[in-house]
Amino acid sequence: MFFRLQKAGERVGVFDSGVGGLTVLAACMHRLPSQKFFYYGDNTHAPYGSRPPEEVERYVREAMNVFLRLRVSAAVLACNTATAVCAEKLRKEFPFPILGMEPAVAPAARVCRNVLVLATPLTASSRRLHDLIARFPDCRFRVAALPDLAGAIERYFSVREPLTLSDHLPEIACDGVVLGCTHYAFFRREIGMFYHAPVFDGAQGTANHLAKLLETSKNCSNSGTDDHPQPQYNPNKCFIKKYKKTTKNEVIFLGTSPKVNKQALMANICFKNF
Ligand code: DGL
Repeated sequence: MFFRLQKAGERVGVFDSGVGGLTVLAACMHRLPSQKFFYYGDNTHAPYGSRPPEEVERYVREAMNVFLRLRVSAAVLACNTATAVCAEKLRKEFPFPILGMEPAVAPAARVCRNVLVLATPLTASSRRLHDLIARFPDCRFRVAALPDLAGAIERYFSVREPLTLSDHLPEIACDGVVLGCTHYAFFRREIGMFYHAPVFDGAQGTANHLAKLLETSKNCSNSGTDDHPQPQYNPNKCFIKKYKKTTKNEVIFLGTSPKVNKQALMANICFKNF
């Protein structure tokens, strides 16, 4: 059920199990510099990827109820796992639009022929992902379920536990990599170096989708249009400080670990130890 969105400076809720959705939040901030964002990271329960789907659904519903109380105009499930598990169901329950993540299978299929999709176990086994892949029969896709990488990235940010990406990445030859989990996007560049292949993620697509939705009101300033694409956000560049000078974005961090999420948003991650 959708209601009409109104004007710039509206409230947008962004949700993830933990820090991963910050990679999407950053793209949304870049694309929509006048909006007010709430970031809800459920860090206490992260990672979601190997949990029972009913449990994930319960946690996501709790977050959507918080967004409901905050009277957001739209919510972004910046989590492939939550999107695969319960986006459709929750869309029927809440009065605001709920945008999900779509792994960047389509952009990868446009330029690659042998693509590796990295995802959490729940996303990797989801009907949603396999239906999406089936739309591109000319491209070979292999899906790797990574049981521990999202958790390791979460711990890297929350308790500074050292992270060696090569311990988690399967050695599979490919000519393109799709990041099917928003946590992985912090290490987009490193993953690209590991596979010697271009990397695709859904953050920019989701930000564009959100912008389009908000633009229906024709009141969003500085949001650009698809005819005039915005530059790609590079999560490895710490842009926040520079950005603060030019943006009116306000981000309010919710959940149990607001400090961890705030620091992770600002982090300039550059991993070299693989
Ligand atoms: N970042 C989320 C995703 O995109 C969740 C990862 C997890 O909590 O396992 O799937």
